[in-house]
Order: sequence, then structure tokens, then C-alpha cells
Amino acid sequence: MTWRITSTAVLAIMLLSPDFTTAAAAGALEQTIDDCESCHGEGGASSHENIPVIGGMSSFYLDAQLHAYQDGYRPCVEVEYPAGPEQGEMGDMCEEVEGLSDQQISAIADYFAEQPFVVPDQETNPDLVAQGENLHQQHCAKCHSEGGGLAFDDAGILAGQWRGYLEQTFEEYRTGERWQPEKMAPKMEQLSDDESSALIEFYVAQEPLE
Ligand code: HEC
Ligand code: HEC
Repeated sequence: MTWRITSTAVLAIMLLSPDFTTAAAAGALEQTIDDCESCHGEGGASSHENIPVIGGMSSFYLDAQLHAYQDGYRPCVEVEYPAGPEQGEMGDMCEEVEGLSDQQISAIADYFAEQPFVVPDQETNPDLVAQGENLHQQHCAKCHSEGGGLAFDDAGILAGQWRGYLEQTFEEYRTGERWQPEKMAPKMEQLSDDESSALIEFYVAQEPLE
């Protein structure tokens, strides 16, 4: 008797649980994405220069970055939530990815990869852009094709990105705080401060491919 009651109860739970899990998981995912968008803007179209635009980057690249934060290969910069229910409070990427499963990360990466990369409006200095273009062709174009504007390269999108974010992340590469591909490191390390600024100016002036 006891067995029958228990098995019926177990069966009922088994029949119900797939739906319950799916609905709960979908709700949790939506909530996480809302939180991302409080900082990165709707669809990842950030309007803050220290927070990168993430919409339109490849799913592969986004997935890799979320894992890099989770596994400690990338430092996390604390910023103020510019919007949303936590507006004015401090947050960072390490906190954001804590506890996310591989499946959740993959779904979030797919979501942002499907959004357009919305280029923010920034002024640029044409002389510096021209210098940066030369350096880019010599040292970076092999991997960052189309002026760093091709999501398909799986190397992020540099074209049209916020200057503040690019300055921050160049610094992290040059100080060794952020992991970088073996063949990119010598190219980054040999750049002078002026050359870095020119490269950044070049990327800011580009637009990613549709
Ligand atoms: C409190 C604000 C904040 C929240 C919330 C937030 N981010 Fe970020 N995110 C940042 C900042 C600032 C950076 C850049 C500095 C750094 O690397 O820490 C960044 C960087 C990133 C990058 C790296 C972009 C690149 O070009 O390499 C990705 C990808 C990213 N965030 C995705 C997300 C996702 C997905 C979520 C939600 C799970 C999220 N972020 C939530 C502030 C935030
Ligand atoms: C051998 C190929 C290669 C070369 C050469 C290379 N990169 Fe990269 N770069 C990559 C890859 C791959 C990534 C993505 C790394 C990751 O997944 O964390 C990347 C990432 C970046 C990022 C981060 C993008 C983001 O959204 O945060 C910047 C900035 C960057 N590279 C700049 C440069 C510059 C500037 C040069 C030339 C001086 C250069 N790279 C040369 C392959 C390369």
C-alpha cells in the first residue's frame, strides 16, 4: 500500500516536473537577461561608454567571454547600474555570471548574438584614424577582418565599440590581466601608448558589417 501511494506520488511529480522545470527555467533566464539589459541596454545596445555594446557579436565569442569571467580569466570592472531596479547600485560581470549553468550561458549568448550591434555616436580625429588604420593592417587585420567589424571572426566586434570600453580592455591586455590568444599577445605588447590610442580611434570610426 505504502509503495503504491509513493509510486503514484512519484509518477505525478515525474509527469509534472518537465513542464514545471521548463517554465521556471524560462522565467529565470528572462530575469537574467533583463538584468544584463539594465547595464548593457536593450538588446545589448549600450548607451554608456564604459559598458560595451554586446548585441550582434558571435554566439561563440559571447559564450567564451561569459565563461572567461566565470573561470577568472578576465577581470571584472565594477560599475553603477545605469538603469533597472538596481539603478545606482554597484555591480560587475563576475557577480553576473556566478551560478549560471553552461546551458544558461549558451542561451544568453544566442539571444545577444541575434540582436543588431547598434553603433553609438562618437566623434573621431581623422589623422589618428588614418594612423590607426595602418597599424591595424600591419598587426591586427589578419584576425580582426573588416576593420574589426565581422562577428563571424569570433573575436568580438571592435568596429564602432565605445572608446571607454576599448581603452579599458586594451589596458587589461597590455598589463596581462585579461587572457589573450598566444599570437595576439606579442602584437599588443609591442604597441606604444600613442599607437594604442590611434588603433582605438580607428576602431571607434568603423562600422560593423550587417
Ligand atoms: C552592473 C552592470 C553590468 C551587468 C548587470 C552586466 N554587465 Fe556585462 N559588462 C559590464 C561591464 C562594465 C563590462 C566591461 C568591463 C568588464 O570586462 O568587466 C561588461 C562586459 C561584458 C562582456 C564582454 C564584452 C566584450 O566585448 O568582450 C559581455 C559578453 C557581457 N558583459 C555580457 C553580459 C551579460 C550576458 C550579462 C547578464 C548575464 C551582463 N553582461 C550583465 C557591465 C555589466
Ligand atoms: C592571431 C589572431 C589575432 C591577432 C593577430 C590579433 N587578435 Fe585581437 N583577438 C583575437 C581573438 C581570437 C580574440 C577573442 C579572444 C577571446 O575569446 O577572449 C581577440 C580579441 C580582441 C579584443 C577584445 C574584443 C572585445 O570585444 O573585448 C581586442 C580589443 C583586440 N583583440 C585587439 C587586437 C588588436 C588591437 C590587435 C593588433 C595589435 C589584435 N587584436 C591582434 C585574435 C587576434
